Amino acid sequence: MPASTLARFQRITPQQLRAFEASARLLSVTRAAKELCVSQPTVSVQLRELASTLGEPLFQQHGRSIQLTQAGEALYGTVRELAACWQRLESRLADIHGLVRGRLKLAAVTTAEYFVPDLLGSFAAAHPGVDIELAIENRDRVVGRLEQGLDDLVVMMMPPEHLPLASLEFQTNPLVVIAPAAHRLARQALTLQDLAQERWLMREPGSGTRMAAEQHFKKQRFEPAVAMSLGSNEAIKHAVAAGLGIAVLSRLAIFPPLWPAAGSSEVAAFKEPLTMLQVDGFPLSRHWYVVWRNDHPLSAAARHFLQYLEAKVETT
Ligand code: PGA
Repeated sequence: MPASTLARFQRITPQQLRAFEASARLLSVTRAAKELCVSQPTVSVQLRELASTLGEPLFQQHGRSIQLTQAGEALYGTVRELAACWQRLESRLADIHGLVRGRLKLAAVTTAEYFVPDLLGSFAAAHPGVDIELAIENRDRVVGRLEQGLDDLVVMMMPPEHLPLASLEFQTNPLVVIAPAAHRLARQALTLQDLAQERWLMREPGSGTRMAAEQHFKKQRFEPAVAMSLGSNEAIKHAVAAGLGIAVLSRLAIFPPLWPAAGSSEVAAFKEPLTMLQVDGFPLSRHWYVVWRNDHPLSAAARHFLQYLEAKVETT
């Protein structure tokens, strides 16, 4: 590298890059400062110094928010490449020592919260050198995280098609129709049309469960009378139990965990106050995937987690 280039970029500090990365990702200096636990003026100063070193403005004001300039976009790409290089180095060092160290950044859709922590328990015990971060969000937000490349691995039911992703399918995720235990249509063979007069409770827009249910209803030309949208599986379960309506939900939200002990009876666990309706076409057969960006290298910790998951799938 020419000495003049080196001299110029040597003035860039890790703090400036962190301030820039967070501001570029969140498109907000205030949110970046909050995430980095520093004051907003500190971030602004770091961004100003960085821009002056590069001789280019990095952000432009757009109404009340900020946007990256062309130079900002170029720097953001470089910062992400740098992060990928460090990650590759981390993997190589871990390989040299035969040890897995580092951070495993995972995101999972809300319905996966019923089993992902269980999976992490035994992985963490076997890999004490790995720091695990788990973010739980609904599908829309998880897709946003994938777009930004925030996580090593993501657990979800419906991977988006617009991103370069690799995936491992590891478990079924049947979606069922639940109703209060004393529902008049319980224990009868039903079609969706039999449920046309029911009040349907849906997960919030952005939820994968809602998206899967809506896709199925559309295919069946069924228009549910949606009485309410609720922001979590637990809220749906309670609302259904309280007699507010019926809903489509992952069976895992009702029968956690993912790998029940051999011989355990789901039916025994499934007493009051909910029941599953026997609706033609249900359970909807969906699957859980762990997905990752195939344009980013996987960290050693992520590779080990995938191996662990593969071994777990083979033994179930
Ligand atoms: P949800 O997502 O928890 O947002 O409903 C399920 C999924 O997308 O897999």
